[in-house]
Amino acid sequence: MTFGNKAAPRRSAAMIPHENKNDYSMHFRETSSADAQSLVDGVRLITPAKEKNSAVILPWIGYGTYRLGEKQALDATLEAIRCGYRSIDTAFIYGGEKTEVLVGQAVRKAIDEKVIHSREEIFVTTKHWRKYHGYDASLQCLKLSLKRLDMEYVDLWLMHWPGPAYNTMNKKKEDVEKDPFFYATTAPEDMADLRAETWRAMEDAYRQGLCRSIGVSNMSIKQLRKLKESAKIWPPAVNQVEVHPLHPQDELLEYCRQEGVIVQAYASLGGQDTGKQLFAQLLGEKATKKQKCSLLDASLVTELASQLKATPAQTLLRWGLQRNCVQIPKTTSKSRMLENAAALSISMTDEQVERLKEELRSNVIRNNPDAEVNEITRLCWRRDPLRHLDFD
Ligand SMILES: NC(=O)c1ccc[n+]([C@@H]2O[C@H](COP(=O)([O-])OP(=O)(O)OC[C@H]3O[C@@H](n4cnc5c(N)ncnc54)[C@H](OP(=O)(O)O)[C@@H]3O)[C@@H](O)[C@H]2O)c1
Repeated sequence: MTFGNKAAPRRSAAMIPHENKNDYSMHFRETSSADAQSLVDGVRLITPAKEKNSAVILPWIGYGTYRLGEKQALDATLEAIRCGYRSIDTAFIYGGEKTEVLVGQAVRKAIDEKVIHSREEIFVTTKHWRKYHGYDASLQCLKLSLKRLDMEYVDLWLMHWPGPAYNTMNKKKEDVEKDPFFYATTAPEDMADLRAETWRAMEDAYRQGLCRSIGVSNMSIKQLRKLKESAKIWPPAVNQVEVHPLHPQDELLEYCRQEGVIVQAYASLGGQDTGKQLFAQLLGEKATKKQKCSLLDASLVTELASQLKATPAQTLLRWGLQRNCVQIPKTTSKSRMLENAAALSISMTDEQVERLKEELRSNVIRNNPDAEVNEITRLCWRRDPLRHLDFD
């Protein structure tokens, strides 16, 4: 894949400089999801006030970097910035721990190419990795992320996963079926306390200015309630979770709304961890060798898309925006980057939003009468024994 960009000279500074500490708010605009028109329009995150003019605004649509290969991460992220994306979502663990470096390089190149003028124009999110749960280890994890990104701070630092790491990559199915914690590095009864220590480190990182906001990811209501008991900084600015019409997470969204936590949806287009056979089983639609089958191909999604004069991807992104969820679609294609951004200019009625969820979920239940609907519609983290979050 080429994007035809000229090689840009490297900056000589050791870190991407933090040019003007009070300038953030001039680069982003606070709007409702309905009023958002551009990729700098976003939602104001709740953070303890530290500095004047330090409003932290997270764009309603950002760019996801999961599964961008080593060859793609730099060019694709840079292209996204050229296309106008001003929020990039990455993580310590992505791309075998190589993506953060390439995201940092993409931001630097965008500055060199004068696509943007300073680091402050990009909202960078990265995520702690679960191998580093605990106070000291968490701070070490963030310092490593910043070093890889070559940045002085990130705009949002998320606790990626509420559970423990595993002590091996070679988990045997039968062991895990007997006990999902079989290979876990922390016992289930110790996990909540350890997570509280991670959050304490995140609070201190926030106070030290290493991140402009802190949040969580993949947290259930139960885990959030537990965290609240010990947190000094509450609420987490964001909970980044899987949300799409097959897995709408109504209760979690309502809890987050009440607590002031912004929900950032991942896998809005169906994600990248689920094959066409599972989609075929869920949706009751055909998947042959030739035929694709994904959430984007579901008959109801394509029907609504044609009513809205939009594409299926825009329809799914709009569906999420209308439920006040921040979107971070991933694509390596420039035309899809533009297509996804244009989800801001379509609108859906409340009836259409409700119908997409209700009819797709009813389809799943009809086609899978013996399965638990929330279990089979969780499309991501498919190889993770603890993906259903039913631990403390
Ligand atoms: N916190 C977590 O645990 C977690 C978990 C998963 C993801 N995430 C974050 O959320 C982001 C988004 O989730 P995701 O990457 O799993 O999945 P996603 O954004 O739902 O879907 C990405 C897939 O959709 C395709 N796609 C993108 N735009 C399209 C369009 N307009 N038309 C047709 N196909 C399109 C992409 O293919 P092409 O690239 O070929 O276009 C890719 O295969 C991630 O990149 C990551 O940053 C976080």
